[in-house]
Amino acid sequence: MSCRAHWATLLVGLVAGGCENKQWPASMDVQPIVRPGAEARAAPAGAIPLGGVETLADREDVSDVKSPYPLDASAAARGRGIFAIHCTPCHGPEGKGDGPVSAKFPPAPNLRHGSICNRSDGYLYGTLTAGGRAMPTMREGTSSRDRWDAVAYVRLLQAEGCTSVAPEGSGR
Ligand code: HEC
Repeated sequence: MSCRAHWATLLVGLVAGGCENKQWPASMDVQPIVRPGAEARAAPAGAIPLGGVETLADREDVSDVKSPYPLDASAAARGRGIFAIHCTPCHGPEGKGDGPVSAKFPPAPNLRHGSICNRSDGYLYGTLTAGGRAMPTMREGTSSRDRWDAVAYVRLLQAEGCTSVAPEGSGR
């Protein structure tokens, strides 16, 4: 289309951005700029980098997610090994919160605490993946499967019995 066309067409053309085609900028001035040292553009929501570690900003985001694997006895047996390597320094060998790091760090809770028993599997998985308030992410050095197995092991510990939680509004 020529800009010398009928005046009405010209007006429409001007309103829509004149003769320049704004949708496909050819000038480097108007391209997105990534400055050296600036943060890389964020990955789209839910993206999992190929060969990389899963990203998750907040454990609440996966509260409703269900395990893709059965959280059964064999998952718990694998989870026991993951727990021994990654969790005992803080949560202690039996998950009672008495690991050596807890003496120097915000103490890790006993995993049989009623409030933790009441969490969804997704929330526990989210805690391991994104980290908690003081707990660091357990993403590095573990696969998604490893973390679900650790959740299965935490459920096995909790099957021994959970502490009671004061009902809402009782001021515990
Ligand atoms: C560096 C110490 C540390 C390590 C390692 C650690 N945790 Fe924790 N964990 C904590 C602390 C502190 C809290 C309580 C505060 C919080 O939510 O961050 C916690 C909380 C939790 C909770 C309760 C979440 C909730 O709020 O209901 C679970 C479940 C849990 N950890 C499981 C694990 C498992 C499983 C591992 C190993 C894969 C692990 N943690 C490794 C320190 C640790």
